[in-house]
Amino acid sequence: MNTLQSIGYPIYFENTLTELADFIRRGKYSKFFVLTDEHTSKHCLPLLQEYLKDFDNYDLIGITSGEENKNIDFCIAIWKLLIDYGADRQSLLINLGGGVISDMGGFAASTFKRGIDFVHVPTTLLSQVDASVGGKTGIDLDNIKNIIGTFTQPKAVFIEHEFLKTLPPRQILSGLAEMLKHGLIADANYWNKLKHNYLDNPSAELVYHSVEIKNKVVIEDPHEKGIRKSLNFGHTVGHAIETYSLMNDENPLTHGEAIAAGMICEAKLSLMKTGLSEAELNEITEVLNGLYPKYNFNKDIYEALYNIMLKDKKNQSGRINASLLTQIGHCRIDNICTEEELYESLDYYSSL
Ligand SMILES: NC(=O)c1ccc[n+]([C@@H]2O[C@H](COP(=O)([O-])OP(=O)(O)OC[C@H]3O[C@@H](n4cnc5c(N)ncnc54)[C@H](O)[C@@H]3O)[C@@H](O)[C@H]2O)c1
Ligand SMILES: [Zn+2]
Repeated sequence: MNTLQSIGYPIYFENTLTELADFIRRGKYSKFFVLTDEHTSKHCLPLLQEYLKDFDNYDLIGITSGEENKNIDFCIAIWKLLIDYGADRQSLLINLGGGVISDMGGFAASTFKRGIDFVHVPTTLLSQVDASVGGKTGIDLDNIKNIIGTFTQPKAVFIEHEFLKTLPPRQILSGLAEMLKHGLIADANYWNKLKHNYLDNPSAELVYHSVEIKNKVVIEDPHEKGIRKSLNFGHTVGHAIETYSLMNDENPLTHGEAIAAGMICEAKLSLMKTGLSEAELNEITEVLNGLYPKYNFNKDIYEALYNIMLKDKKNQSGRINASLLTQIGHCRIDNICTEEELYESLDYYSSL
């Protein structure tokens, strides 16, 4: 597994924590900070700190885990701690955690003193294959996901497979949803390989391949003007389901669970609008429905879901825009979907 080159920064897959220590040394940072949540400070920080023994110019910043905390209040807490600990423009922030940590840490760093360096050390499968690559940072506001944020690239990403060992199975499955998405939008062979690889912890090679797919797309289109939109397959309906669940459920869906439901709906939309075959729709439905718990809802919530979709930043001129499949392994972007079409796709999902 080679080091991948992204938009001006490397993504390391081997000897990652030694590479990180070398990176800090080379950067001659005045200070650095490690951002964690309570799970990554328990499960991941001890291993990281074995590689930080030579350094005494760093502090730890801890936040509470959970999507509901990916908001401006926690961001302010991070900024205040950076100030209290004496961070200056030559400081570095190391984001040690899942997508919540990398999104919010990236956002806090990209705005602090007009931007300080940050790197990601992703510790969930989802953040390794998706959130840590591509330079999107952000926080949620008033239950609208990622509505405030920047495109700012990290200085490097360090993908350490060891961290996945403590990850709960539900979180592994959450990341697997994005990997399956990579297959569906760009690589039918990869989809075929993954769909039989169900509950195991995906190998480092599979993680690498997913990052390769995502990285290729973001290099081509860093600001999501075109091809990068293909990564949004499953996310038009999926984000609405995720947001609805966050607002209403005691134990909300993970990102991947919501996206899996969204991919089934959008596969149905693909059959209706972009020529996906019935056989492939059935295959996608069977695989995803077999892997992920069914999210039960009835028609009463369609309007709420639709209203959430209307607020999605992916829309243009108030019209709902989805990336759909023409066949497994091929995606077509910019498909405007009507309210009726979206409801039909929700009917399809609820009838399963
Ligand atoms: N920026 C992007 O391009 C992008 C892409 C995809 C998703 N995202 C964002 O990522 C977030 C979801 O990421 P996530 O699923 O990683 O969520 P997360 O950061 O909430 O992590 C999931 C849970 O796993 C715990 N955890 C993390 N590493 C662990 C480890 N090694 N062992 C045990 N527990 C561990 C966390 O504390 C948390 O409880 C969402 O906010 C989503 O919007 C961003
Ligand atoms: Zn996603």
